[in-house]
Amino acid sequence: MKSLAVALPILSLVSTALAKTVTYDFNVTYTEANPDGQFSRRVIGINGKWPIPTIDVEKGDRLVVNLFNGLPDADTSLHFHGLFQNGTAHMDGPAKVTQCALGPGQRMTYNFTINQPGTYWYHSHVKGQYPDGIRGPLIVRDPKGPYAGKYDEEVIIALSDWYHDENPVLFSKFLSVGNPTGAEPVPNSALMNETQEMPFNVLPGKTYLVRMVNMAAFAAQYFWIEGHTMRIIEVDGEYTEEAEADMIYFTAAQRYSFLLTTRNDTSENFAIVGSMDQDLFDVVPDGLNPNVTGHLIYDASKPLPEPSFVDEFEPFDDFGLTPLDGEDLWEDPTYSFSLEVMMDNLGDGANYAFFNGFTYVAPKVPTLYTALKSGNLSLTPEIYGRDTIPHVFKHHDVVELIVNNNDPGKHPFHLHGHTFQLAYRSDVDAGLYDASDSSVTFAQKPMRRDTVLINPGGNMVLRFRADNPGVWLFHCHIEWHIQSGLIATFIEAPDVLQSTLKIPQDHLDVCNGQNLPAAGNAAGNTQDYLDLRGQNLSPAPLPAGFTARGIVALVFSVVAAFLGIAVIALYGSQELKQKAA
Ligand code: C2O
Repeated sequence: MKSLAVALPILSLVSTALAKTVTYDFNVTYTEANPDGQFSRRVIGINGKWPIPTIDVEKGDRLVVNLFNGLPDADTSLHFHGLFQNGTAHMDGPAKVTQCALGPGQRMTYNFTINQPGTYWYHSHVKGQYPDGIRGPLIVRDPKGPYAGKYDEEVIIALSDWYHDENPVLFSKFLSVGNPTGAEPVPNSALMNETQEMPFNVLPGKTYLVRMVNMAAFAAQYFWIEGHTMRIIEVDGEYTEEAEADMIYFTAAQRYSFLLTTRNDTSENFAIVGSMDQDLFDVVPDGLNPNVTGHLIYDASKPLPEPSFVDEFEPFDDFGLTPLDGEDLWEDPTYSFSLEVMMDNLGDGANYAFFNGFTYVAPKVPTLYTALKSGNLSLTPEIYGRDTIPHVFKHHDVVELIVNNNDPGKHPFHLHGHTFQLAYRSDVDAGLYDASDSSVTFAQKPMRRDTVLINPGGNMVLRFRADNPGVWLFHCHIEWHIQSGLIATFIEAPDVLQSTLKIPQDHLDVCNGQNLPAAGNAAGNTQDYLDLRGQNLSPAPLPAGFTARGIVALVFSVVAAFLGIAVIALYGSQELKQKAA
């Protein structure tokens, strides 16, 4: 007993001595880049550079990011994807959820400690912005972790996709009456570390810890390294028991880290391949190269091989992973609910995404600020606005979320503030989840992650414990679906938040500086939180009897009329040219 009492203060002394503060000063600015070698365009960088820096800290460190919005014409914010922000929910970053977006010329500071080791990333959480470049890896090193000492070096490989057009241009075409089927813009290329010529120089007989993240707007990628096996040890910040894989499937936003042991001979180099999952694309454009190739280089004087042809993708199934801590399935949920995914047209003719018939529309007041100022009404979902799709959990609820995918597409669902247990995932086209179906069996020590793929027409069961008071979004991480409303808002223990959280003045000043409300219900009403008049709502439904097909027909006649005008214009201009000649 005595020695323990003596040992404790020494331990805490050691840990405070080691933890440090890591500070970044980020000025968000436009710059130019041509990452696929085909097209130079304006991109959003940091401090005049792109790719943006990797945030690199150690477990236990405090991270301080001083953010300045140097964009003359756009809002911004930063989200640190995968960090729980337990105790610092106001540092999570999504605009209109935990803060106001920074307008041009505004600044604010993110400041929090990080106690989770692993592979993360950070990105703007203003609708549709990160595909324009503001996305980078965030690594939390763990020198005392369970796999420490099992590798010689750490390496980062970030997958992504790339568009030649800027997001606002693509978005105005995507969410419009001219695109009634909701076909998502297809990327122009795939990238690895934001380039198409990624070298990975290795020494023979060594083991590398390869940390990977897919920072894509849309495309999932199949990934493999020819002639080598990957030993997975982490997914989305959760250590797993070691699992061997020849090919890994990365949805947008997912991370894996794996151990890679190199060969003992240096006579050959090997292709590293990422291949976009073309099932996601409604139409594959002519000439699209879905692949990006890097090289594992043992000897730079030897040739760099082209990848060999693969006729079938057989990726590793993450459902089979086991968390290293062996955590059991959470039993007896105290809050169970389901969300059904659907796509449909609204009265403006555009194609939206829905959970249970609602498509997300941001509130007038950031949801967290509503939670903090609403007293006892904070437990009443209505005050957060109909179209934020709110769910309120009590502190320490065991939450069960059933997702039914009533859409023929694959969706990577992400939850802020938590990793969830993937208790069950059905095959393709299984239909609605049915708890009484005897073929449904739950994983007993389920894999945990923060982003998980649901199969087309399938369902899944997620569980987690509400041990993190805050306001957390649940959404599809395909940025197009963020923009078409596939987002729900989870308000967790708002009563606890009210006594523990204080919003720093510089965060409130971001709202004040733009005359945006920082208190009140979703409609900005500070007097009566139950009066939602004036709240932001989605467009009205289509008039009865009007179908998506009807819109297609309508659009075709409009397009035909346009073609007619174009033909006349063409003749007209030819006439002009002839006259000039
Ligand atoms: Cu990468 Cu809402 O998050």
